[in-house]
Amino acid sequence: MTMPRIMFGGDYNPEQWPEEVWAEDMRLMTEAGVSLVSVGIFAWSRVEPRPGEYDFDWFDRVMDNLAEAGIGASLATMTASPPPWLSRRHPEVLPERADGTRLWPGARQHYCPSSPIYREYATRLVEQVATRYANHPALRLWHVGNEYGCHVRACYCDVSAADFRRWLQERYGDIETLNAAWSTTFWSQRYADWDEIMPPRTAPTFGNPAQELDFARFSDAAIRACYLAERDILRQITPHVPVTTNFIGLAHKPIDSFRWAAEQDVVSLDSYPDPFEPWAHVAAAFGYDLVRSARSGQPWLLMEQAPSAVNWRERNAPKPPGLMRLWSWQAVAQGADAVLFFQWRQSVGGAEKFHSAMVPHGGARTRTHQEIRALGRELAGAAELAGTRVRADVAVLHDWENWWALESDAHPATLDLLETHLVHYWPLFDAGLTCDVVPPTADLAGYRLVVVPNLYLMSAATADALRRYVSAGGHLVVSFFTGIVDEHDRVHPGGYPAPLRDVLGLRIDEFWPLPEGATVELDHAGRRWTGTVWSEWLDVEGAEVVATFAAGPATHPLAAELAGRPAVTRHRYGDGVAWYLATRPEPALMRELLDRAAAEAGVAPVLPGLPDHVQAVVRHGADRAYLFLLNHGAEAVTVPVPTPAVNLLGDRERPVTEVTLPPRGVAVLRTETAG
Ligand code: GAL
Repeated sequence: MTMPRIMFGGDYNPEQWPEEVWAEDMRLMTEAGVSLVSVGIFAWSRVEPRPGEYDFDWFDRVMDNLAEAGIGASLATMTASPPPWLSRRHPEVLPERADGTRLWPGARQHYCPSSPIYREYATRLVEQVATRYANHPALRLWHVGNEYGCHVRACYCDVSAADFRRWLQERYGDIETLNAAWSTTFWSQRYADWDEIMPPRTAPTFGNPAQELDFARFSDAAIRACYLAERDILRQITPHVPVTTNFIGLAHKPIDSFRWAAEQDVVSLDSYPDPFEPWAHVAAAFGYDLVRSARSGQPWLLMEQAPSAVNWRERNAPKPPGLMRLWSWQAVAQGADAVLFFQWRQSVGGAEKFHSAMVPHGGARTRTHQEIRALGRELAGAAELAGTRVRADVAVLHDWENWWALESDAHPATLDLLETHLVHYWPLFDAGLTCDVVPPTADLAGYRLVVVPNLYLMSAATADALRRYVSAGGHLVVSFFTGIVDEHDRVHPGGYPAPLRDVLGLRIDEFWPLPEGATVELDHAGRRWTGTVWSEWLDVEGAEVVATFAAGPATHPLAAELAGRPAVTRHRYGDGVAWYLATRPEPALMRELLDRAAAEAGVAPVLPGLPDHVQAVVRHGADRAYLFLLNHGAEAVTVPVPTPAVNLLGDRERPVTEVTLPPRGVAVLRTETAG
């Protein structure tokens, strides 16, 4: 699907307001250049006040007002928060935690994803909504549910238990296959019958990791089934209207965005970087690269962000002047075709009354609203960006199944996959390299450099894909604790990482993780550096040693015993090169190693010599390219531009050969290209 422009707007919840306010909403939205709003997300109890009794008249007026104002509706299926009557009538729809705690109504998302009753009432409502608004002129997009898996990541109730058994039977066919896959002879867990199997509820100690992994897969599938049931109705009634559902943050652990993306027409993301966090934009960038990659580079929608502060952290920072604009343009730079906010008008009651809004409590005269209007004007003037695409030479591999398995209990050390990703992504970002974030099943042939952080769970198919990639000339960087287990969390025997030993030219016999906060010294290029988190007993089998562990004042005494042994290696394999990191190098060394790997792979930064804290990204059109320059730093910088270009956010009459960006400044430079 293609947007006619970069869409601008937010969640619109008119049901919180008397109708007199709606006219002002339309006027202010028009003045601010709003073109798309998400409506009806939390409207279920208003449109169906009693089971089967519908009241859509008021909502018709909302939709009509939007159509009249020329504003599109990203129309919700209204199923995100069931009305009180549903759980009163059917208490069994309420979800349960692993310890048996029932989650009661009173907030939102209080339903068990496997509940046939929830699905029945939800799909019945979706049919009503879809039929009623199928041909409404305001309808542009379906917004199914809302942030699936946000509060209820999994449900452990009896209904879910039965659904889990059904799912397992479909996956394994017979109980002996399941026993083998789950290694159930360990701790006397062998099952004789499907009915003996439970969700991994709170147990005396570490649960069965294969059972937990399958439960994570099942929970994702159960939540996805809710989405699919609604999506299928929409596809049937309105095949002409695209469907999305909003993902969360840089990546949300319970929801496998890669699998979900394939079931949508366009992907959308809610992003809430913390303004107190100086590097929030780097983490956000990773999330934007991931969501864009989830549908192979197709433009995505920034479905929600905060105009200023959120209300759900311990301390909630406002966005100082210019930051909302900078972070909005960052999303566009990284491929977004919409910049939407939560929410249009700030609530006066309810749990989110202190969350900022496009129209704050103080009204239209507020700083935030004025900045919103200015952004609306700018985006309206940049319609030509819609549909253009970002291209990347570097891929970072991310896999949800690995995430679930890697972070399970009883491992050599506790590892946090998102943190690991950012440790690898950050130097690439700083080096001005554009990255995709792709699943192991992606076609890697188009990338010059592939970075694989902690891909602990590795199927034989993934190992083969990586082998083929390197052998055909690709450059691969692999970090420790990769290629350790198969899809059932069973170790690949024969020296770690058995499936990749030939590609990496090495063998690891033992993991030597470092104590919390400890470091190990490293020798590289005649200098001393440090590593953290991990070390290991590694023997090269053909690989060249690039850095070694060293003893020194900063080295933890146990790790000192590894002095002289390999810490970073590089191996030529086929026509390509495979690097291995047996520790987490300090940021400067990580940057140096990745710079070398990128240079050898022939990857060039978007702009050479980019000043610190300036992000540069290009979106490509048919015969034009748009260079985005974003100054995330606190100092003004001047950036030379390779060919004279028009700044879409500056004086369009005068092409420039350099731009000066104040702190939080942005430029979008258009150049004509051969295509
Ligand atoms: C999102 C959610 C919105 C609102 C917002 C506040 O997670 O989709 O409904 O709660 O957060 O930041």
